[in-house]
Amino acid sequence: MNKGIFISFEGGDSCGKSTQINMLKNCVEASKYRDRFLFVRDPGQSPIGEDIRKILLSLDSQPHPLTELFLYLASRSELVNKIIIPALDQGKIVVCDRFYHSTIAYQGFARDILPIDQVEQLANLSACHIQPLKIFYLRLDPQIALQRKQDTHFDRMEKEGIQFREKVQNGYDYLAKKEPQRFVVIDATKSPEEIFDKIKAEISKTTGFDL
Ligand code: TMP
Repeated sequence: MNKGIFISFEGGDSCGKSTQINMLKNCVEASKYRDRFLFVRDPGQSPIGEDIRKILLSLDSQPHPLTELFLYLASRSELVNKIIIPALDQGKIVVCDRFYHSTIAYQGFARDILPIDQVEQLANLSACHIQPLKIFYLRLDPQIALQRKQDTHFDRMEKEGIQFREKVQNGYDYLAKKEPQRFVVIDATKSPEEIFDKIKAEISKTTGFDL
């Protein structure tokens, strides 16, 4: 039984997730709880996971959709077993930039190569059946998200078109509806400050730490 608390952030590309995670990092860093938190990212974080992330996002890679799915699962297995579970056992608050819901939305709904229930089972397996207590889903219309992207560099996943992004959004909407107690759906058209106030309040409530 883990003593810690697990929280994840989800959303389509360019939804403002990184901005919010950075705001949270700065807030935690300035608080007396800084040693209680661990921030990680999926895919990545572990040495093997970061290597897999490079392959997954490189424009030079062209993995088969099933290979893509297995690479995301493999990266997560490293992250969960080597980093997240030990941190939760130590009582840490682990904040993860994406987790297995991304696999269901992107590989399940958008790539659509396997039945959703199979992708859900595989995603759960890669997560060792660990579930975030709260999932902050930054919901933004994919058209607006595309317009918002400021730099011109697109990685392999960001290069996917609007239809792919819409399917990803449908996937997240399905998941949020299925698990309303755990999903915190956030209107990502609001200002970064307004969004952060909401996230901070919810995290303070969930952890009992007055951030
Ligand atoms: P990031 O840049 O937000 O960390 O995400 C990397 C990309 O990988 C992003 O386009 C979402 C995608 N992704 C999947 O397709 N499946 C997954 O399981 C995960 C975790 C991310």
